[in-house]
Formats: sequence, C-alpha cells, structure tokens
Amino acid sequence: MSVMRLGFVQARETDLDKATAYYTNVLGLQEVARQDGKRYFKCWDEYDHHSVVIENGGLGLVKMGYKVDTQDELGRLEKAIEAFGLPVRRVARGENLALGQAIRCTLPSEHVLELYAEAEQSGTQVGTLNPDPWPAEQAGISPQRLDHLLVTAEDVKTNADFFTRVLGFRMSERIIPDLKNEGELLAAFLFCSNKAHDIAFVKGPNGKLHHYAFWLDNWNEILRAGDILGRNGLKIDFGPARHGITRGTTIYFFGPNGNRNEVFSGGYMTYADFPCITWTADQIGRAIFYIHQEVNERFSNYLT
Ligand SMILES: [Fe+2]
Repeated sequence: MSVMRLGFVQARETDLDKATAYYTNVLGLQEVARQDGKRYFKCWDEYDHHSVVIENGGLGLVKMGYKVDTQDELGRLEKAIEAFGLPVRRVARGENLALGQAIRCTLPSEHVLELYAEAEQSGTQVGTLNPDPWPAEQAGISPQRLDHLLVTAEDVKTNADFFTRVLGFRMSERIIPDLKNEGELLAAFLFCSNKAHDIAFVKGPNGKLHHYAFWLDNWNEILRAGDILGRNGLKIDFGPARHGITRGTTIYFFGPNGNRNEVFSGGYMTYADFPCITWTADQIGRAIFYIHQEVNERFSNYLT
C-alpha cells in the first residue's frame, strides 16, 4: 500500500509552555525543535524527525500528515485526489520543517490532510545497531510511537470512501445504525498498515478532533501510564479499559489545555483480505468500551 502510516499530527494548544511540559514530562516525548512559533516532538522509537507539532491558536487539529512510501506515489495520489473532486495544493520542500515536498487537500470532513514521502531521519533513542529494547533514560509515559487519530465528520461514508478508493485504506470495522441501514455509517475504522486502524471517523461536526493516540507495548504499560497520569494530576476521560472495536486496551485523558489523547495497546493485526467487522448502534457501548458497556457523555460529545 502506498500510504504507510500516520506520520505527524499538528495540533493547536492554548498555552505552549504548559503543553510542552506535558509532552516532555508526562507523555515523555522528546522536544526536537522550536521554529516559527511551533514546537516539534517525537517518541523514542520513531526514526523520522518528529511526529507531533504544536502551535498557538486555540485547541484542535491544524492538520494530519500521512507518510507515503515513494515520491512517485505522491504524483499518482495527486491525480487521484483531484479526480475524486478535491483540490490539491503542493507544499514545497522545507515548508514543513524537516519534511520533503507534500501534497495537501481538505477532506470532505474539513480536516486538512498532507501526504509526503520524505522526512529527515534523526533515528531512534536506541539506534539500529545492536539496539537495546528501550532507552535507559526515559521520562513519563514514553510511548513507542504515534499511532492513530480519530476525527469527527458529518458524512462518515464520503470520508471513508475517499480513504478507501483514493488512498488505498481498508475498513477494519464500522458502526451502522442497524442491519436495515447498512449503507449508513456512524463510524469507520480504516487501516493502511497491518494495524487495526490508522485513522477513524465518527459521526459529528466537521473539522473537529476527538483524540490522537500513542502506542504502548502492552497492558502493563497502559496501567503504568495511568499511574503517571494520576501522579501528575491529569484529567482522565475514560479507562484503563478495553475496546470492542480493535480489541485494543486504552486510557483516554486530557492534556493541560484540553486536547484529548489516548494511550493504546494491543488489538489484532490486519491484512489485505481482512473482512470488515460490523457493530450495530444498539451495541455501541460494548463496541467502544467492551467491559464497561457504556460510553460516558463527555467521551461522546467533547471535541476540540
Ligand atoms: Fe483511538
């Protein structure tokens, strides 16, 4: 598949210093650059220059960046996106710090998507020669990598169509109203890798962010992340818990300014022949939080 993974999330934060303290001390990311009012972070096991960018200006998502495997693929995708009916703008090399040329479009959901093939690789904290399994010096939660994001859309189906038909993603799971309304999507979980999801759309207002998530290796690390969030007084939205959808384990929590994050682990692996799993809306409690079987009002409605 030509789109490999979520490469970066660029988010707005009302207080950059508070956010920076959170990203470095609580989440345990490494701050790698400050430039033009933006701050750049990466997780310890990521090779590229950065995976999280923050800037001033409220809350929510500025844009998402998905990394494509070759520059040639960008040219092909540019044509395919235009054929779908979305205008494409080229982003020159260097317009994004440490990234190569990109193409940008605004999704039907009004979120900005960038696709790029090249990034400066600054390497991981353990390297590629006889590496240790994790770095000796770790602060906070220390997730291995950025994993996925979930955004809301008035029309989930059109966005899912765009990701599947144009970008080559596949749908691992979906929520539909009931079996009589199979064509209508309340949520779509989409993958471009072997993960259970690389992006998800849930029905809601256009342009809003629900959360972006960081990967941890196992359930014990999720529990440890909860301890660190508690120790630091961060507000928990929900968890530790288990998802029905993806079967992953999770905690949802809020950064100091109010953007929601998740630590996520587990879940099944997907392949090109993975059939789409369907949940009906009457089972939405178990779909989202399998053990607790219900979804709190804030989780459903709080967006940035
Ligand atoms: Fe998630």
